[in-house]
Amino acid sequence: MESAAMSQIGLAGLAVMGQNLALNIAEKGFPISVYNRTTSKVDETLDRAHREGQLPLFGQYTPKDFVLSIKKPRSIIILVKAGAPVDQTIAALSAYMEPGDTIIDGGNEWYENTERRMVDASASGLLYLGMGVSGGEDGARHGPSLMPGGAHRAYLNIHHILEKVAAQVDDGPCVTYIGEGGSGNFVKMVHNGIEYGDMQLISEAYDVLKNAGGLGNEELAEIFGEWNRGELESFLIEITSDIFRVEDEETGNGHLVDKILDKTGMKGTGKWTVQQAAELSIAAPTIAASLDSRYMSGLKEEREEAAEIFKKEGLKEEINNVSAVDKKRLIDDVRQALYASKICSYAQGMNLLRAKSMEKGWGLNLGELARIWKGGCIIRAVFLDRIKQAYQRNPGLANLLVDPEFAREMVQRQAAWRRVVGLAIQKGISVPGMSASLQYFDTYRRGRLPANLVQAQRDYFGAHTYERIDRPGSYHTEWSKLARKARV
Ligand code: 6PG
Repeated sequence: MESAAMSQIGLAGLAVMGQNLALNIAEKGFPISVYNRTTSKVDETLDRAHREGQLPLFGQYTPKDFVLSIKKPRSIIILVKAGAPVDQTIAALSAYMEPGDTIIDGGNEWYENTERRMVDASASGLLYLGMGVSGGEDGARHGPSLMPGGAHRAYLNIHHILEKVAAQVDDGPCVTYIGEGGSGNFVKMVHNGIEYGDMQLISEAYDVLKNAGGLGNEELAEIFGEWNRGELESFLIEITSDIFRVEDEETGNGHLVDKILDKTGMKGTGKWTVQQAAELSIAAPTIAASLDSRYMSGLKEEREEAAEIFKKEGLKEEINNVSAVDKKRLIDDVRQALYASKICSYAQGMNLLRAKSMEKGWGLNLGELARIWKGGCIIRAVFLDRIKQAYQRNPGLANLLVDPEFAREMVQRQAAWRRVVGLAIQKGISVPGMSASLQYFDTYRRGRLPANLVQAQRDYFGAHTYERIDRPGSYHTEWSKLARKARV
C-alpha cells in the first residue's frame, strides 16, 4: 500500500467546504487523497472529480488507507465541524501518521483548541496548522482566502500548493503565513467579526433606503449594483444587489427577500470576536452592535408583541412618510455613511488583531492580512488594498482612522453620515451599526471626553483615586465633605 503513496496531500471531511477545496487542489494539478467517515461522501466527491475534468483525486475508505496513500512528509487537511469532531478525526488519522507529518485544521475553530491540539500533536512528533479558510462554497472551489498559522515548517511543506489554490489578486495569492500558535484561527475569527459588521451595516443601509427613502427592490438592486462599481466594490455589496433581483419561486409572487423571516442565525465566531475584544480592552462597538442585532432579531415573537404594545400606547410609525425625503440625496448620503461606518468597523478589527498579536507575540502583519483578504474571502473588497497601503505606510499606525488618507475620507463623509444617522433616529429606524461607528469616530477624535466626571464619581463613592490634568500623581478627595461645605 505504502509504495502506492502518490498523493501530495490529503483532505478528510467532505461536506460542502471540504469537497470543494479538495476539487480545487486537484484541479491545480496536485494529486489528492480524500476521506470521509460516511463513505458515500467519498463516492460523491470522486464522481464530481470525474465530471469536473478527470481530476487527480483519489477516494479512500479507511483512515489507514487514506493516510498511507499520501507522500511523506504527509500534509492532511481536516475540514470537519469545529470542536469534538476535530478531536475524533485527529485520533482516527494520527494513529497512522508519522513524525514530521502535518495536520491542518481548516475549520472555524476556537484558537485555543488549536493550541491545545498543537501541544498534543507535538508529543508524537506531528506538526500542526490551524488554517482559516474563507470564501464559502464558491471560494473553496475556485480560490479561497487562506489563513494558515502554526508550525512554520509545516507551512513550508505546502505553501506551493496553498499559493496555487488560493484566490489570486494583483499582488499575489490570498495566502500568507500568519504566525505561530492559533493565530490563523484567530485572524479568521476576526475576519468573521468584520463580516458580521459589514452585513449589519449593509442591512441598515437597506432599511434606511427602503423605509425612509421608499425604495423598492428593483431600485435597491440598481443602487447596490452601482455602488459595486465604486469605492464600495466588494463581494457582499455584489451579492446584495443580486439578492434584490430574485423572485419568490415558491409563490410566484414578489421578491424572495421579502418572504424571509427576519431572524439571523449564527455559529459563534462573531461572538468570540466580541468576547476577545472585551478581554483585550479593545473597543469594537460596530462588531458588538452587529452581534446584538442578531440576538435581537432572534426575539421575533417578542418584538411583534412589543410593536403592538407601543402602538396601543400611541407610538406612530414614521417610516411610511417618505414624501419629504430627497431620494437622490438620501442614496448618496447612505453610500457615504456605509463607507465611513465600514472603515470604523475595520479599524476595530485591526486593533483587536494588533492587541492579540502583542499579547501572544505573533508578530501579525496587518498590511499583509488586509492583502490576503482582497480576494477569495467573504469580506473581499477593493478598499482593502487601501487598508493594506495604510499599514504599509505606517506599520505602527495607532488606528486606521488617523491614516492621512482615511482621515481625509472620514472628514469628507461625516456630514452625510450624520444626516443618515439623524434621519434614522428621527424616524425610529434602528441603525445600531452605523451609529456605533459614528460614536466610535466621535469618541476617538475628541481630545477631551466626559470621563473626568466618571473618575470623580468613582473617587466619590469608592475612593478609586483620579489623576489631574495639571500635575502628576494620584489624588483622592473627600467629595461629600467638600460638597456639604460648598452647599452651606
Ligand atoms: C467565510 C465565512 C464562513 C461562515 C461563517 C459565519 O469566511 O467563508 O465567514 O466561515 O459564513 O461561519 O457564519 P455565521 O454567520 O453562521 O456565524
